[in-house]
Amino acid sequence: MPKAVSFSRFGGPKVLELIDIELPEPQSGEVQVQVRSAGVNPWDFKVRRGYIPGHQLPSRQGVEFAGVVRAIGADISNWSVGDEVIGWIGNGAQAEFVTVPERQLATKPTKLDWNIAGGLGLSANTARRSIDSLDLGPEDTVLVTGAAGGVGVIAIQFAKALGAKVVGTASSRNHEFLSSLGITPITYGDGELERLRAAAPQGYTAALDTVGDIAIETALALEIPPARIDTIASNDASEKYGVLSVGGGKKNSTELTEFARAASANELVLPIRGAYPMDEVVRAYRDLESGHGLGKIVLTVNN
Ligand SMILES: NC(=O)c1ccc[n+]([C@@H]2O[C@H](COP(=O)([O-])OP(=O)(O)OC[C@H]3O[C@@H](n4cnc5c(N)ncnc54)[C@H](OP(=O)(O)O)[C@@H]3O)[C@@H](O)[C@H]2O)c1
Repeated sequence: MPKAVSFSRFGGPKVLELIDIELPEPQSGEVQVQVRSAGVNPWDFKVRRGYIPGHQLPSRQGVEFAGVVRAIGADISNWSVGDEVIGWIGNGAQAEFVTVPERQLATKPTKLDWNIAGGLGLSANTARRSIDSLDLGPEDTVLVTGAAGGVGVIAIQFAKALGAKVVGTASSRNHEFLSSLGITPITYGDGELERLRAAAPQGYTAALDTVGDIAIETALALEIPPARIDTIASNDASEKYGVLSVGGGKKNSTELTEFARAASANELVLPIRGAYPMDEVVRAYRDLESGHGLGKIVLTVNN
């Protein structure tokens, strides 16, 4: 029987286990995909640690995947068996097979690396929505906190593409890579505010925060107007600080197809910081939950 990542009690990575699942047969309008890689995201552990009210147990894990179409239901015109696809699902992407509505799939360019394909969707969608909320242009200097993370590393590229000057906070070990993307990396922690001021003497006009309240307070201390600070990492920041709170949300296949095309053409770069076989899912989440690293972690499946 196919395997899937599951948990039956809330807690840290060690509550995760592989279980057998029924091979889900596609109904009308649905497509069955054999998964090759699946993204590992902070959202997953927030759910698994019980931080999201109302989440029912037992539960599965993972919201994004890349794989090969193995079966199609009735009324499918866009996909055929053997197509390489990228997709999203409400829950349960970390499995050998998933079955999803056809609108939740996009074409995976053949030359796009499977791991990048499996980890691209959620971060790129969130980066797109959050950067768009700031309405950036060439006159802007934008601060991106957590610039090395899965969302941050894509957001800085979207901001650069809009012509903005970009300063990003990250650990020093990630600076060389971030500099290669044309941004100014700054070490966070003690003395961060002074370093940020020195990096942009003209001042900052906007900020995307992927870290939380401590980074929002830094952005406010830099006198960036709250209406031009967006956070994806603080639940109550709108009420507390009057900042924007625009994150992921509506995904669409056309946009995902474009992210994948850009990644396969190296116009969009997503470093893979770790690719763990699905049976090492506990290690994968220990790595993610360490809170540090460059780019995205994925599970490799059926490889
Ligand atoms: N609202 C939404 O729709 C949405 C969607 C996606 C993610 N999120 C949230 O956004 C946050 C980031 O997600 P992600 O997927 O990008 O996470 P991630 O891949 O784990 O990245 C987190 C990054 O933060 C850096 N970091 C840690 N402490 C920092 C600090 N004090 N200042 C600056 N950087 C710091 C780490 O890099 P170093 O190695 O440089 O320390 C790491 O690269 C999470 O809270 C996640 O739940 C929200």
